This record gives sequence, C-alpha cells and structure tokens, in this order.
Amino acid sequence: MNAISQPTAWFVDLRQLDEHASPEDKLRFALRYAVLAPSNHNTQPWHFIVDGDCLTLCADRMRALPVVDPFDRELIISCGAALFNLRVALSRFGLAYAITPFPAPADVDVLAHVRVVPEGHCDNSLVPLFDAIQQRVTTRESFVNEPAPPEFQRRLVEAGVAEGCDIVCVESAAGRENLAALIGEADHTQFKDPRFRRELANWVHPGRDQDGMPALSAGMRTLLDLAVPLVSSVIRTFDLGGGMAATHHALAAGSPLLLCIATGTDDAPAWFAAGQALQRVLLTAAAAGMTASYLNQPIESPPLRERLRAALNLDGMPQLLIRVGRGAQAPHSPRRPLADVVS
Ligand SMILES: Cc1cc2nc3c(=O)[nH]c(=O)nc-3n(C[C@H](O)[C@H](O)[C@H](O)COP(=O)(O)O)c2cc1C
Repeated sequence: MNAISQPTAWFVDLRQLDEHASPEDKLRFALRYAVLAPSNHNTQPWHFIVDGDCLTLCADRMRALPVVDPFDRELIISCGAALFNLRVALSRFGLAYAITPFPAPADVDVLAHVRVVPEGHCDNSLVPLFDAIQQRVTTRESFVNEPAPPEFQRRLVEAGVAEGCDIVCVESAAGRENLAALIGEADHTQFKDPRFRRELANWVHPGRDQDGMPALSAGMRTLLDLAVPLVSSVIRTFDLGGGMAATHHALAAGSPLLLCIATGTDDAPAWFAAGQALQRVLLTAAAAGMTASYLNQPIESPPLRERLRAALNLDGMPQLLIRVGRGAQAPHSPRRPLADVVS
C-alpha cells in the first residue's frame, strides 16, 4: 500500500483525546470515526449537529443520487453506517449513550438524536470493533479463492442479527453463479441508461479530492460515452478481465462468500438499521483480516430485486449484497473535512 496516497482523515490518533474532555468534545472527537463509514459513490450524505452532550444526525439530501437511488434508500443506509461507527467510538471512549431514531416525524432529514448518558450502560461488545474502523476499506479486486470458515460466517450473521437484520450467506458455487448472473443483468441494464452513466461519472472524477471515487477514474476517461457491461463490472465490482464470456464465472470465483442483508420492512427505519448492520458486518470482517465490496446492482432494480429475493428465499426485502473475502489492501478513499459536516 502506498502510504503517501492515504487521505489524512484516516489518521486519527486516539491519544489526542483527553480522557477528562467534556462529553461535547468526546462527541466531536467520535465524529472523526463516524465519517470513515462507507457511503454509496462516497457521497458522505450526512450532517452532524453537536450541542453539549447531544448530537443530531441528519441526512444531507443535497448529496442524493436520484438515478441509482431514487428513494434515498442507500443514502439512509450510509447514514446508518456512520451512526454505527459513532456508537463504536463512544463505546471505546467508555461512554454510554441513548439513541432516539427518527425523533422528529415532521422533519424526515433528522435521522437520530444521540445523547451521552453518564450513568448509562456502555456497550462493551462494540469495543473490539474500534480498530477495524480505520482498517476497513472497500476492495474491488478479486479475492483469494478459499472457503470462508463457518465460524467466521457465524460471526457475520450474528453481527447483522444484533442490528435487527437478517443475513443470508451464499457460498456454494451454483448459488454464487446464480447471483452473478443477476448482477451481470443489472449491470447491463444500468449502463445502458445515460442518466446512470452521467451520475456515476460525476462521482468517479479525478478532480474530486474530498468525496467520490477519484482513484477509480484512471482509465475511465470516456465513461460518459460508455455502455459496455464489462466496464461497468470493473467499476461496480472488480476488474474481471478475460471478456464478457468469463465475467460471471470470474465474479463467482473471485467472491468466495456473498452475503445479503435483508429487513422485514422496506422503509427509512429499516434502511437505517440495515446501514448499522452493514457496518457491523464490515467491521467484524475487517477485524478478522477480511475485506468486502458491493454487488448491489440487482437491489437497485425493482424487478431484479424481486428475483434476488426469490433466489435467496427471503421473507424480507434485500437491502445490500456484498462479497467478503481475503484481498489485497486497497487505498482509502477521501473524506470531507469535519468542518463541512459538523456544526
Ligand atoms: C449503501 C452503499 C452502496 C454502495 N454501493 C456500491 C456499489 O454498488 N459498487 C461499489 O463499488 N461500491 C459501492 N459502495 C462502496 C462505496 O463506493 C465506498 O464505501 C466509498 O467509495 C468509500 O470508500 P470506502 O468504503 O473504501 O471507505 C457502496 C457503499 C454503500 C454504503
């Protein structure tokens, strides 16, 4: 890994936090970890307001992706992931907290109030995930073709269940091939849409240095004009190589474990829970030396989402489809300055 290219947001040093700092200062420090959460296209669609020992988490819908995410489902998921990082950091600082999700029904942008509760119960189960916040990275490369140990899979399932979500793991070759075909179909449909390509190109842009995915821009100069499914697979999944005929096989082979996060309902509270489950799963994987990336394409298309649901025999609604495995260390992506997301 090239240390020079690592964005500075990822170098957070806990020793800079005075243990006698006020709850407000500790909340503000915890936000350095919250913003390291993943978000679709690295939009970082969140805003935090700190007031004494209280914090309000708001959705920043100016950063929405209206083509790929017309109902802000993935936007809320991303905010849920940021909240989970905040919970882990507060727990690591030894602070108990109380969370009120969606406290202001009249304002749908207010996603949660978080209040530090001095005498409350501190969630020690989250503390072992703290170091993984800075280790986690989305890795779009092919993974080592080795089975995921059952004990590791069990921990991923438990992580999702702890956040109120259902987790389905798919590791059989036939199951992965089946899902790879659905992903390829969704990729193809999305990349035929010029609005989708334009939206993606806007975030995969070499000129961005605080958000988006500038590192993916190399070799994507003509992205706006492209409608080639293989190229979409490079961006959305990983560099498959070998042409379209090999695409689905390579995707299945390079993803030893596929994991779907599903919820009982399909509304903002469910998306918020799915985001927290996602981050708990990702940090659990990172703590075990594993990495992940996303194969959400079928979930972003209503007909394909139904087919995915049927293929996985789900009662609930699929919210995220990720691949988990052992991969090369990828560089971190940039983050916006804290001053831009905290007030
Ligand atoms: C809800 C959600 C959906 C995402 N969808 C995709 C995707 O379809 N393809 C992809 O390559 N990455 C996807 N990502 C990963 C983001 O691109 C990634 O989190 C972001 O670029 C920041 O990089 P990092 O995760 O390495 O910090 C998604 C992330 C989230 C939270």
